[in-house]
Amino acid sequence: MTVDGPAVLCERLTHIYRDDEGTEVTALDEVELRVRRGEAVALVGPSGAGKSTLLTLLAGLVRPTAGRIVVDGEDVVSLSERALLRMRARKLGMVLQTPGRNVLPYATARQNVAFAQRSGTLTRAERRAEAAELLESVGLDEHADRPARLLSGGQQQRLALAVALAGRPALLLADEPTSQLDRRTGDAVISLMLAAREQRGTALVVVTHDRHVSDALDTEYAIHDGRLEAGSWLRSASLGHHRPGLEGDRS
Ligand SMILES: Nc1ncnc2c1ncn2[C@@H]1O[C@H](COP(=O)(O)OP(=O)(O)O)[C@@H](O)[C@H]1O
Ligand SMILES: [Mg+2]
Repeated sequence: MTVDGPAVLCERLTHIYRDDEGTEVTALDEVELRVRRGEAVALVGPSGAGKSTLLTLLAGLVRPTAGRIVVDGEDVVSLSERALLRMRARKLGMVLQTPGRNVLPYATARQNVAFAQRSGTLTRAERRAEAAELLESVGLDEHADRPARLLSGGQQQRLALAVALAGRPALLLADEPTSQLDRRTGDAVISLMLAAREQRGTALVVVTHDRHVSDALDTEYAIHDGRLEAGSWLRSASLGHHRPGLEGDRS
């Protein structure tokens, strides 16, 4: 981890998707975002608002149309593909929106976590103990030696978080990490994210529709039509107000 500077900085971040007919969709429109080290940020907003796009840009999985992205001191937009891979491996943990895409299906839960650990300064025994602890904290200790493909969607989602945190990332990006979980397992996921923040100063950027998640984090930003604003339609919804833009599906 670099010593100073924010965990995430976005300046005038814009992303436009173009389909084959040349139709353009502005998924992000001049977004400004700053996340401090150890800050826990919730991103909320209706389906299609641009939340997943923002996470994939932060992870360097997609190059933005315009703007600047700095993650833990690294200028993501200017990095080569190889440097990006290295940056992701060393600094990022990511939980994608589709649970099954986060895990290696034929590896066991324990192997999935072990593959994501970095050799670093830990001994083999310490790594093994940490993997077991991660699996236990998401309630998968009984399933540690089952292949990931045989786990349920909710179990895969919890495994995905254990995998994302296994490399002790400076930044965790999680896209609706509790969407398939009940209240109890959802709470375990929240606790594990907050523990990473407490123990290692991991910054959290979590896309969520789950008020238990957003309430547990420090800061909340709403995205509407690719624009980021402080405050929340979820909190106003809980007071019975109109939820701007919440039309159609919530995928
Ligand atoms: N790969 C893509 N190609 C074209 N348009 C896309 C693609 N991914 C997302 N979009 C569009 O970009 C907008 C933002 O999508 P997304 O970031 O997935 O929103 P959210 O995660 O908030 O639901 C939507 O209009 C969506 O249809
Ligand atoms: Mg999404």
